[in-house]
Amino acid sequence: MKIKRIALFFSTIFALGNAKNYNFKVVSLSGENYSIGVKYGNEIKPLFSDNFPLFTGTIEADNIDKYKYVVLDKSGVTIEEENIERTYSDESINEVFNRTNKKVEIPKLPEPFKRMFSMGSEKFKPFPNNVIYNVYAKCNETDYEYISNNAFIMDGDKKIRNDKHANCTITIISPDNVYRSTGSAYIFGFGSRAYKKFSWGMKLDKKFLGRKTIKFRAMASDPTLIREKLTTELYKSVYVPVQEGTYARLIINDDVYGLYTIMDSINKRWYKSYIHGDTKSKVGFGYKLFSSPPAGPYSDLKYLGDDYTLYDDVGTYKLDVYDEDTINIDDRVAQWKPLIEFTKMYDNWVKTYGNDNSDKAIDELKKFLNIENLLRLLAIETLVVSLDGFWYVMSNTAIYQNPQRNNYQFLPFDFDETLIGNKNDPLIDEETYKTDCITWATKNETSFEHYFTNNLFKHPQIKNRYDVILGKISRETFAPDKVRAFINSIADLIREDVQWNFDAIKTLDIDYEGGYINRFTYEEFEKNREYGHLDYQPDIRANDASFGVMEWVEMRGNSCKAYTSNVNLNDDKYISDDYEVEVPFSSASKNFIAKITLVTALSQLLIFFLI
Ligand SMILES: *[C@@H]1O[C@H](CO)[C@@H](O)[C@H](O)[C@H]1NC(C)=O
Ligand SMILES: *[C@@H]1O[C@H](CO)[C@@H](O)[C@H](O)[C@H]1NC(C)=O
Ligand SMILES: *[C@@H]1O[C@H](CO)[C@@H](O)[C@H](O)[C@H]1NC(C)=O
Ligand SMILES: *[C@@H]1O[C@H](CO)[C@@H](O)[C@H](O)[C@H]1NC(C)=O
Ligand SMILES: *[C@@H]1O[C@H](CO)[C@@H](O)[C@H](O)[C@H]1NC(C)=O
Repeated sequence: MKIKRIALFFSTIFALGNAKNYNFKVVSLSGENYSIGVKYGNEIKPLFSDNFPLFTGTIEADNIDKYKYVVLDKSGVTIEEENIERTYSDESINEVFNRTNKKVEIPKLPEPFKRMFSMGSEKFKPFPNNVIYNVYAKCNETDYEYISNNAFIMDGDKKIRNDKHANCTITIISPDNVYRSTGSAYIFGFGSRAYKKFSWGMKLDKKFLGRKTIKFRAMASDPTLIREKLTTELYKSVYVPVQEGTYARLIINDDVYGLYTIMDSINKRWYKSYIHGDTKSKVGFGYKLFSSPPAGPYSDLKYLGDDYTLYDDVGTYKLDVYDEDTINIDDRVAQWKPLIEFTKMYDNWVKTYGNDNSDKAIDELKKFLNIENLLRLLAIETLVVSLDGFWYVMSNTAIYQNPQRNNYQFLPFDFDETLIGNKNDPLIDEETYKTDCITWATKNETSFEHYFTNNLFKHPQIKNRYDVILGKISRETFAPDKVRAFINSIADLIREDVQWNFDAIKTLDIDYEGGYINRFTYEEFEKNREYGHLDYQPDIRANDASFGVMEWVEMRGNSCKAYTSNVNLNDDKYISDDYEVEVPFSSASKNFIAKITLVTALSQLLIFFLI
């Protein structure tokens, strides 16, 4: 007791008689020409940056209780002061200019089915979902300028993607960490180049959270900045493996691009972790399907013969992953064989069992296709009405030959045309699609016959299982109160970044002529998440929004609940792939704390008994 009192006494004297050191760490969002200072009382003290855009400094003062950060120009003149009044605390976190320090809990959507895949590994865990990363890429100026001013280049008289990479040093700052690595940046995707706010990919020389490739999706057409996130979460909640991520503020050289999602790309490490649960596992063959509706070509999965050139480089399939240790990089025959085999097996199955309604047909199909996973994928596509997905146009999907299960499965990606309704799409029947939860994707077959899915759904067992899956998801996962809680928590996470994000693209100083700018507003972010619509106003923006997100969820959910109202939801037997899958990674650090608390409680109990 005595010792404690003396210590207390000394520290009081110390505090009264001496100035104290106050430490500050803050991320600047204002580009390279500016620095950051701390303002307290009438004083402004500059901070310094060894690790741009992080500014740090220690200020010796008698007492700093309230403070703000200010943006300073090169001559030290204040040009912006944040609206937030901060209260000093000894908690050492990297703050962000103009953003409060907040901890948002993102609730999970209900999971009506058990885990089907690992969805991550110890060395490749899902990104935390309640962090906004601050990303600054300092890139070779010549190359960066060339890329950002020329998203497309001419190949003869054909416009093609500019896939050039610029070398960069990439800094990623989270509240409690600073990561830095060399690497490169490039624009990815094709459609996203229609906008001035490009989507960027980055290759990293040093791993970031186990990743060597990360993608930044621009969400350029979505005033809510939430649709892709929600669609991703829907797939995830039914264990259809997807690339997921969280949000990031992106700055490249002196250009402030705004708020993006930072997420995985579909690559070998992702497959190994999300499908097989271990970064060291064997990987199978993955192909992406692309179609060009309405004229085509379509990646219709028809068997075209055994010659790989009928599949390779014809604008439909793209070989994405294979095991480079066993397959030679030049061995095109071996690389395309698994895809061709799949189409051949399906072709045979259609020919042999196409009109056979017995269970034998299903038994034969599940020998090579993960039917259960595909039906869950289709159910989510139905609820979000995916206008560039598998069922509707056989696009934005990968087919993966899973060497562990010895079957094939489908994986969706790119969800920028979901939860928004029809936009004059020629193959959609405007009159019926909103209430139609079974034929919405296949109403108009004049230019494209849905050979693959139509042949599946000829079998009553498959349609019945789809109905049960859709019935359960539309009642449990897609329940409006659950979805609203999820998207509102995401809105809480990003709200302070919304106006800044919309402003960033208006002032972005790149010479790209072709790119649209969507001049959305903060109010539209709030209202379009519920029931508010955005009209088509071509002088202001390229995209409208004829449904609010919650409006869509309620309307579409009700339609699919009505469609499945007579379905026996207790008849919940997986049609294939009924495995027990464990979570192969330790989840959030919260569990760790819980364990420690338990140990402490037990030891206290022990002490109690000893006394
Ligand atoms: C930053 O400063 C340089 C040199 O003064 C200038 O050329 C450049 O335009 C400035 N950048 C911005 C975004 O203001
Ligand atoms: C800071 O917040 C104000 C008000 O919300 C906004 O106008 C300004 O653009 C913000 N600046 C930055 C760098 O976020
Ligand atoms: C930037 O890239 C160009 C070639 O694209 C190269 O000539 C130049 O040396 C690079 N600059 C730096 C600073 O590395
Ligand atoms: C980019 O970096 C790689 C290695 O890090 C190097 O081989 C290449 O020459 C660099 N390119 C440019 C244009 O600087
Ligand atoms: C069906 O799609 C074609 C385009 O492939 C379109 O020309 C036609 O008008 C559509 N039919 C209906 C009834 O919407």
